[in-house]
Amino acid sequence: MGEATREAAEAAIDVLLQERREFPPSAEFASGAVASDPGVYERADADLDGFWLEQTREFLTWATPPAQGLDWDPPHCTWFADGALNVSANCLDRHVEAGRGDKVAYHFVSEPEDEDDRAITYADLLADVCRFANALRGLGIGKGDVVGLYMGMVPELAVAMLACARIGAPHVVVFGGFSAEALGERLESTGASLLVTQDEAWRKGGRVPLKVTADAAIELAPTVEHMVVLRRTGADVPMQDGRDVDWAAFVDGQADTCPAEPMEAEHMLFALHTSGTTAKPKAVVHTSGGYLTYVAVTHRWIFDIKDDDVYWCAADIGWVTGHSYIVYGPLANCTTGVLYEGDPMYPAPDRHWDIIERYGVTQYYTAPTLIRAFIKAGPEHPAGHDLSSLRLLGSVGEPINPEAWVWYWKYIGGERCPIVDTWWQTETGGIMISSLPGLVTAKPGSATRPFPGIRAAVFDERGNPVAPGSGGYLTITRPWPGMFRTLYQDDERYVSNYFSRYGHSTYFPGDGARQDAEGDFWLLGRVDDVMNVSGHRLSTIELESTLVEHPAVAEAAATAAPDPLTGQTPLCFVLLRAGREPSDELAAELREWIGEKIGKIARPKAVIIVDDLPKTRSGKIMRRLLKDVAEGHELGDTTTLRDPAVVEDLKRQTDAVLRPKDPPAGV
Ligand code: WTA
Repeated sequence: MGEATREAAEAAIDVLLQERREFPPSAEFASGAVASDPGVYERADADLDGFWLEQTREFLTWATPPAQGLDWDPPHCTWFADGALNVSANCLDRHVEAGRGDKVAYHFVSEPEDEDDRAITYADLLADVCRFANALRGLGIGKGDVVGLYMGMVPELAVAMLACARIGAPHVVVFGGFSAEALGERLESTGASLLVTQDEAWRKGGRVPLKVTADAAIELAPTVEHMVVLRRTGADVPMQDGRDVDWAAFVDGQADTCPAEPMEAEHMLFALHTSGTTAKPKAVVHTSGGYLTYVAVTHRWIFDIKDDDVYWCAADIGWVTGHSYIVYGPLANCTTGVLYEGDPMYPAPDRHWDIIERYGVTQYYTAPTLIRAFIKAGPEHPAGHDLSSLRLLGSVGEPINPEAWVWYWKYIGGERCPIVDTWWQTETGGIMISSLPGLVTAKPGSATRPFPGIRAAVFDERGNPVAPGSGGYLTITRPWPGMFRTLYQDDERYVSNYFSRYGHSTYFPGDGARQDAEGDFWLLGRVDDVMNVSGHRLSTIELESTLVEHPAVAEAAATAAPDPLTGQTPLCFVLLRAGREPSDELAAELREWIGEKIGKIARPKAVIIVDDLPKTRSGKIMRRLLKDVAEGHELGDTTTLRDPAVVEDLKRQTDAVLRPKDPPAGV
């Protein structure tokens, strides 16, 4: 064996050994941890109602404290239904009233360096929220009226969310990377009457034209009567008289106090869309009391939040992670957070490390896809900064590969910080499976244990629990306060999509998992037609129906290919309409088409033009074969195919794109 080969082999063995390493909390961390009583698991399991009632009383301030815990009429539940509270008062007023108005709620870090950085205190935030809430009321918006929010990562997005919560107007936040069509559909289907947006957002040093996109979107959403436009870059954007108003003019002259009306616990706080197994995104509904309880408790215990911490969740508020762990959980806990506007690699790959050093960040929460991008950029970037303020690291969005885990542990956490790998979903509202960092031994690649009060199990097709070590379907067999209550105006789909596989009492999240001999959970990715690209969910069917809207396309099939950075990447196959000639230009055009129609995150790695798609004799596309092709596996059974030769052609073309044998010079 040559020297280099031996070294490579040793390195590989090293990784394998590391994968089995276990990381118990240090004695020092364990003794000071917020959640330090191992009995909490048993207590919560034995008395679910008692446990959550106790937590909600401790963590929240209710106008009418609830006597009721769970009411479970499978698959529907309510929590604390006889209680009333105001979510924004819980996130703001009570902290200010307790004399903590000067505590920083957010350190805002703008993408252009040092430009608009500012510290926003709880008192500032409360005043801004009140002004905006008063202005909303002035527009006639009140309890139950849906407000759309399409913004970048600016503090005003949190202000608008909290102002909506204050007056009981459910918000629908749409991620700023989505297209006009995606935005329009989300506004239209929820009947939003107001859209709050901004002129442009900063991204990677460039400008994202949010207002122009919003203008196109509301053509598709006739319910939208008004737009409030925040000036962020100061660009000259078209404003329509009578319909559009500047944020500054909107709040001008409004009082900085606004009564926070108590809402019933089950009042809808927001809807948030996520991709499912059909072309139409689902609007997941969360309510007030249960959701806020759940995100507050999980946030404080899992991230070990103490009063002087500077906590940073580097997600975008446009996704559920930002809703729960940038806005509602942290503010309910009166936490100081960092809110960073821009791209992690702008202007250089050390931007995050610079922010951690500058603000003395203590907890840092991000996604594996970004950790892999940091690995690629090299350890010299974090090494150039003092990261010694960090106490804990978190991961979310997709399974974290052990190599990324160990790198994160070593180069970011300085081999000192516990890592919490947190499994959850838009539907679950908050974290469901994760270690409590002072109590549970971490294992790279495992999310470890269900949160106290959560019962999870791995089932086979028929609903029998599988043996430790074997893979199966993850299920949650008991409700929790942060559970989504329904899909907006589509309860039927709520039932059929999530509560039909194993009966109405068992929530089926759509993920594969296995439990090891110690009961720890290892997530195995989606088991349905949903892929996970950079921690974001995309539906294969949505991609397919978008492609067939293109005049050149007769039929389309989408699947996911593995990707070293993004986890998965969409790969599409299309059959052209008669008379259309295949060409590289057309394939590129179709790729861009998806980017325009859905958003850049959905742009496939490649669109491959084929002569036929692998179908069964009855005409069904064989998705399993597409997956084998995309993943570069040996092809499974092709005997049921109408024409087995088709799949060979697919495989040849796919390999040429994804796994070129002779990469072109210079690559
Ligand atoms: C995946 C994001 C493994 C999973 C909060 C889930 C994970 C989907 C993890 C939800 C994790 C999220 N380990 N897989 N720690 N966290 N996932 O709704 O497939 O955008 O079903 O919520 O992401 O994505 P969503």
